[in-house]
Amino acid sequence: MKSYVVDGVFTPRASVKKGVSAYTPVHPQQLVVACLNALRERQPEVLSKAETAFFGCVSQVNDQGANIARNAVLSANLDWSVSASSVNMCCGSGLQAVSIASALVASGTNEVAIGGGVESMSRVKMASDGGYMDGNNEVLRRRMMQVPQGISADYIAASDGFTREELDEFSLSSHRKAHVAAEKKYFEAAYAFVRDESGNPLLTRDDHIRPETSMDGLSQLKPAFAALEEELIKECVIGEGKAISKVGPFHTAGNSSGIADGASAIIVANEDFVARSGVKPRARILKVVARGSDPIVMLNGPSACCTEVLKDCGMSPQDIDLWEINEAFAVVPLQTMRNLGLDPAKVNVNGGAIALGHPLGATGSILLVSLITALEREDKNVGCVTLCVAGGQSISCVIERV
Ligand SMILES: CC(C)(COP(=O)(O)OP(=O)(O)OC[C@H]1O[C@@H](n2cnc3c(N)ncnc32)[C@H](O)[C@@H]1OP(=O)(O)O)[C@@H](O)C(=O)NCCC(=O)NCCS
Repeated sequence: MKSYVVDGVFTPRASVKKGVSAYTPVHPQQLVVACLNALRERQPEVLSKAETAFFGCVSQVNDQGANIARNAVLSANLDWSVSASSVNMCCGSGLQAVSIASALVASGTNEVAIGGGVESMSRVKMASDGGYMDGNNEVLRRRMMQVPQGISADYIAASDGFTREELDEFSLSSHRKAHVAAEKKYFEAAYAFVRDESGNPLLTRDDHIRPETSMDGLSQLKPAFAALEEELIKECVIGEGKAISKVGPFHTAGNSSGIADGASAIIVANEDFVARSGVKPRARILKVVARGSDPIVMLNGPSACCTEVLKDCGMSPQDIDLWEINEAFAVVPLQTMRNLGLDPAKVNVNGGAIALGHPLGATGSILLVSLITALEREDKNVGCVTLCVAGGQSISCVIERV
């Protein structure tokens, strides 16, 4: 059965500076509640028919522990009968949550479901679960020494011959596009505002963007992962049995994704519900594919994953009107664009996580909503969203406007 996106929203992304953001006073569950409240205003009838919910969240401890999805659903005053699960696929979590919701409606198990994601990186810091990259399993660690993502990003830049200048140029363009999008209020149609107790929004726009970004400023930033690399690199062996040797100090705070707080929620419904209710969906989910790749190189999965999802849809990269490729690090979209032969003018047209921030568990569903919004604004039809995922995975989704 066909699966549709009825509607979707996300909070403006709140930049975390020195451990604090505009949303730090708010419990992470309430970021999800803000999204569900916005969907209730936009689609009251459809939301009331939701039977189950899935929210991505990476650091599921402390304020994000205790099944954040279920507690958020309760706090949003959805019916008790709505089941809810928290999903962790690292940076792919938000899209994987939507994918599960979509598969359930497509199978007819449910008619209406909710997918989305959340991460308060100010209240629950990245890596707060204490599991490092491998859950501290010494057996696995002896077999393969997984490294933090920044090292993998530097490795790919070195092995694929990208220069620091190319990475910085990409970052500059991300900031420029995001600044234009913010000035023209392109994200406004998708925003769910997080409010204080008096009802005032804590943030009215994404605040990680740095319009003053310049090549000169970027070029002066120090490599962010060089010290870690020196410490860890000798122990890493990539899939082909080769030790990692070619790593350069490429990625900095300027060309890596920003630390941010945020959430997103999407309502999906199947074709039976759409036909019966008469609701007008915004897009159809044609296919989602999630795949593994080398766990140490880790971030180079999107090209193969996109190729597979496109093949399943009977499409080629040239059939895609707009792309959202998560800017975990500048090298990820650059490598994906090069491998798939993409026109940069179709990629991340409103900037990405370098300029806008990357609230880990939420970004996948934020990008899906951004993509639909951009397709609508530009009156285009088919889009693809893809994210690299820690541990050597990737997730990609193709959608078509209805
Ligand atoms: C790279 C990283 C470690 C940097 O963190 P940070 O040091 O806290 O970053 P900051 O925002 O404080 O920026 C550091 C410096 O760079 C500067 N900077 C950042 N972006 C800039 C830009 N576009 N232009 C000029 N300077 C910039 C800041 O002003 C700051 O300078 P200061 O130290 O003089 O104040 C962090 O952003 C990170 O880990 N990102 C990746 C997250 C990740 O792994 N996600 C999962 C992906 S798979």
